[in-house]
Amino acid sequence: MSGPDLRAAGPGDRDQVLAWNQAPDVRAASLDPRPIDPAAHARWFAARLADPHGQMWIAEVEGVGVGVVRIERERGDGDGRISIVLDPAWRGRGVGRAIITAACAADPGAVVAEIRPDNLASQAAFAAAGFVRWPPRDRAGVLAYRWSRP
Ligand SMILES: CC(C)(COP(=O)(O)OP(=O)(O)OC[C@H]1O[C@@H](n2cnc3c(N)ncnc32)[C@H](O)[C@@H]1OP(=O)(O)O)[C@@H](O)C(=O)NCCC(=O)NCCS
Repeated sequence: MSGPDLRAAGPGDRDQVLAWNQAPDVRAASLDPRPIDPAAHARWFAARLADPHGQMWIAEVEGVGVGVVRIERERGDGDGRISIVLDPAWRGRGVGRAIITAACAADPGAVVAEIRPDNLASQAAFAAAGFVRWPPRDRAGVLAYRWSRP
């Protein structure tokens, strides 16, 4: 297996990204677990593509999309915030760790992940990619993990 490779997301990825994010287990892991309204997703997706302070990539293995990863910054400075969703068929094989590593390598700064305490797979994947617990950024019901370039 080669990759995963990251490519910039484009308008044609809108529906696949909605499908990945709409899965019930992904909603449950999200900081906002409500189901996603497709029209709201379309507006959100267009705004993300246009955001000069954020990057969104589709991860591909041998040309097949396996997930989506984003890093964005409020006002364009400070730590980036990363989020990732992997297609269920591709989980648990080290692909998530590799995608997180590749996205951080493509980002110019430090990156924070905000993870629910019960999301052990996500905590393990970010730790495996070199993130460390970052209590200063913890919020109610959310653990922060941070990565900075060695
Ligand atoms: C979180 C997610 C991206 C992780 O990707 P993944 O490819 O499944 O994880 P990996 O296979 O790279 O695993 C990396 C580490 O996590 C561990 N891990 C994987 N699944 C696990 C699970 N269910 N429970 C505990 N640990 C787990 C692996 O053993 C590995 O640890 P190691 O390096 O010490 O061996 C993926 O599971 C996913 O998309 N989940 C749904 C969406 C989500 O939760 N996104 C993150 C929101 S903060």
